[in-house]
Amino acid sequence: MKRILLLITATSISVALNAQNQLVIPSVLNGPNYNLTLQEGTNEFYPGITTNTMGANGDLLGPTLMMTKGDNISITVDNQLMEPTTIHWHGMHVAPQNDGGPHSVIAAGTTWNPQFEVMDKAGMNWYHPHLHMMTDMHVSKGIAGLIIVRDTEEAGLNLPLTYGVDEFPIILQTKGFDANGQIEVHTEMDTSVLVNGTPHTFTDLPAQVVRLRVLNGASQRAFELGFSDNRTFSLIGTDGGLLTAPVSLTRYRMAPGQRADILVDLSTSQGQAFQLMNFGSELPNAIYGALQPGMGPGATIPNYTSNPLNGSDFAFLDINVVAPTPSPITTIPASLATFTIIPEASANITRTLTFTSAGAMGNLVGPFLINGAEFDMATINYTVPLNNTEIWTLTNQTPIAHPFHIHDVQFFILDINGVPPPPALSGYNDVVLVPAGMGEVRFIAKFENFANDTIPYMYHCHMLTHEDMGMMGQFIVSDPFSGLEEQSASSFQLYPNPTNGELFIATMAGETNFETYEIFDYQGKQMQAGELSGSTTKLSFEASNGMYWIKLANKEKKVALKRFTIK
Ligand code: C2O
Ligand code: CU
Ligand code: CU
Repeated sequence: MKRILLLITATSISVALNAQNQLVIPSVLNGPNYNLTLQEGTNEFYPGITTNTMGANGDLLGPTLMMTKGDNISITVDNQLMEPTTIHWHGMHVAPQNDGGPHSVIAAGTTWNPQFEVMDKAGMNWYHPHLHMMTDMHVSKGIAGLIIVRDTEEAGLNLPLTYGVDEFPIILQTKGFDANGQIEVHTEMDTSVLVNGTPHTFTDLPAQVVRLRVLNGASQRAFELGFSDNRTFSLIGTDGGLLTAPVSLTRYRMAPGQRADILVDLSTSQGQAFQLMNFGSELPNAIYGALQPGMGPGATIPNYTSNPLNGSDFAFLDINVVAPTPSPITTIPASLATFTIIPEASANITRTLTFTSAGAMGNLVGPFLINGAEFDMATINYTVPLNNTEIWTLTNQTPIAHPFHIHDVQFFILDINGVPPPPALSGYNDVVLVPAGMGEVRFIAKFENFANDTIPYMYHCHMLTHEDMGMMGQFIVSDPFSGLEEQSASSFQLYPNPTNGELFIATMAGETNFETYEIFDYQGKQMQAGELSGSTTKLSFEASNGMYWIKLANKEKKVALKRFTIK
């Protein structure tokens, strides 16, 4: 098939705009009951070429699910594909059985009906299939959609909130097509640039503050987002919600899976035409999308250099600025959300995840390993105690950057190669690009609310080729004492906490009359046990730094539980 590529160089940026296709705005589904039917279909990405596709409630992509924090919702996913799949709510804090990971298979011809409370802050998440080894197939064929969550904090900020009028969903993808015009999977020849499923798109935007809700939904490619005239924009939110204040930028790097919430002030731009661009020439090497995807001698991906998008600047969307809407938003708020970054000192444990190549050093194709292993459906890689606050250190010993994603939580980045994150990366994230060649990222997260001893959550590289080939692991969040801790708050005193090993237990005579104690490590293994002596018992407990539980019991087997930390 003929490939029409609009390549724009820095010197020819004012070329006439020549996109032919109007930007498609995905339709909206409102709650509390959502119905998604996964189906096979066809689409003419290019005139006269019929391409086989997959979509939700249509031939390609899916509707935008509008949700409000606090809503109790029900989603019925009807799998009318000829094959099994799953649907994952990327970015949402839901119980493992509702998360739609590779263990929650929806067989062909069956339905899946997760029901949950929306606990997320205002932000943009997305849904996509997650069947092991088939994720790229199902996403590239077309199944993906947006989830926009609103909350009262956002409602009080005078932000553009009218979908399709001053707030625009922008799903950025690249795809590869074979000689018959069919979608290629696990390809390095992703030469077609699509916005909301359409190549060569244009749109009118009103001359006021407009909000772009951008998703990098590409299978592998990172983008260096900006505008053709280098105008500034305000980044107001990242993966998991709004930042504390807008960050003024001319470029924003987006790895696969990441979202950006962007305000552009077009108040004085009526009549102007410009483009939303990828400045691929500015991507540093060792990122998929740059001129060189890897670092070091011999670092190559087959066919990579023949893909004209690599290291190139190209347009996503031609924009014409037209008259403003009635009562437009014309200002950008000075401050946004209120939240506290989890302090590093509150972490109970640090876990280290090391990325390596299974092939020779210099291998950019993979498979890539995490801690020396490929993903195994039957292996739980980590057990995280419920309510644990953890630091994860990601070390990348491969020559290519990997966008690391974790389910269940939004995290705060502590540092990237030892440097604290810039303001744009200081909010809630669920994907982080880990630099190549001994690059290191540390993040902190708290694993709250949901525990399940059998169904795990995933963490993985969001380059879908890497994920499918096994650059993934899984963890369960475990609550060995299911809920006891909350009831025990005032039943006894434990101090000092944190401790260096000396602990005092103070009990009150009367109702409880605790007589024995047991200490457990974070996996529920008993470390020490004994009898209490009177109302104050002094214990010495020798163990390595970390989090432990202490459990008291009386003759009637009534128990109380607290956690403490050794530092
Ligand atoms: Cu967007 Cu585990 O996925
Ligand atoms: Cu996810
Ligand atoms: Cu990767």
